[in-house]
Amino acid sequence: MYSLLRPILFSLDAETAHDVSLSALKNTQRTPLKALYAQSVSDKPVEVMGLTFPNPLGLAAGLDKNGECIDAFAAMGFGFIEVGTVTPKPQPGNDKPRLFRLPEANAIINRMGFNNKGVDYLVEQVKKAHYKGILGINIGKNKTTPEEQALEDYLICLRKVYPYASYITVNISSPNTPGLRDLQHGDALQTLLTGLKQAQSELAEKSGRYVPIAVKIAPDLDDNEIAQMADALMASKMDGVIATNTTLDRALVEGLEHADEAGGLSGQPLTEKSDQVLHKLARHLDGKLPIIGVGGIDGPQAARQRMDSGANLLQVYSAFIYQGPSLITKILKHI
Ligand SMILES: Cc1cc2nc3c(=O)[nH]c(=O)nc-3n(C[C@H](O)[C@H](O)[C@H](O)COP(=O)(O)O)c2cc1C
Repeated sequence: MYSLLRPILFSLDAETAHDVSLSALKNTQRTPLKALYAQSVSDKPVEVMGLTFPNPLGLAAGLDKNGECIDAFAAMGFGFIEVGTVTPKPQPGNDKPRLFRLPEANAIINRMGFNNKGVDYLVEQVKKAHYKGILGINIGKNKTTPEEQALEDYLICLRKVYPYASYITVNISSPNTPGLRDLQHGDALQTLLTGLKQAQSELAEKSGRYVPIAVKIAPDLDDNEIAQMADALMASKMDGVIATNTTLDRALVEGLEHADEAGGLSGQPLTEKSDQVLHKLARHLDGKLPIIGVGGIDGPQAARQRMDSGANLLQVYSAFIYQGPSLITKILKHI
């Protein structure tokens, strides 16, 4: 099915193809037409962050930013779904064009800039979904919020999504919101993690339900920064880490059309880099914190390799755009 659809979608500009696809999924997901993309996958349960995942392969953040297609992605067989990044207030994101395919490299460059309809809208979508499985909600800050007030934005989102999320991801690694990646270092990181942990404790106490928090990091950290990140995550008792977001590095796509576009690169050229960062991170964490591996996972071999490097769970985005839902069954058959 997807092999027939792909040439049509790829003849459109990337963001139009994205919008058309999401709108089709949104309008069919709770109708018999969902049979067009529903797949059955065998159970491969895994316990991570105190949650039982039916299988270890999830949808990465950014594809369903507003949580409008949760039931559709669930029907495809993902073991978990991460929606967002969502911000306190709706925002339009960067000017278009801001999404580019690099088909020769099975890659994507995006500088979307957290275009989303805001946290209240996302919560409404989650309430509408029939899905009862594991749902991650990925939170961020508005572009107009100064860096010193970033914690406030994360706390607004944390409190609003807490009752509806299985786990919450704190995204401090998108390259497309100016200053966001600075939150990965030093005092800014410390302030953020301490504030989040305190709010999580209060919410858990009040609601009687503990919702784990995972921090999503960039692949562009050097060895020292990876070590410091691991120490900070353990010291502040975060529940998990997602490695990695997109990269600013263009070494592997040099000369290709769109390679010079600003933004984050994802897909095959990210595979090796993401795997290395995860491997180093896993060495420092020494099993004390689970890791969700993401970045260039495009088949069973890359999936297996990422697990061998220390990933407890996996996510995909770009390869799913290139291969469609059959990627899920292909990977799950072999891990
Ligand atoms: C178009 C696009 C939008 C994305 N938006 C987000 C986002 O909003 N939040 C986030 O944490 N990651 C976002 N990502 C990053 C992905 O979740 C993932 O970490 C990255 O693409 C690497 O995985 P991949 O190589 O399988 O695509 C986005 C990626 C793409 C391609």
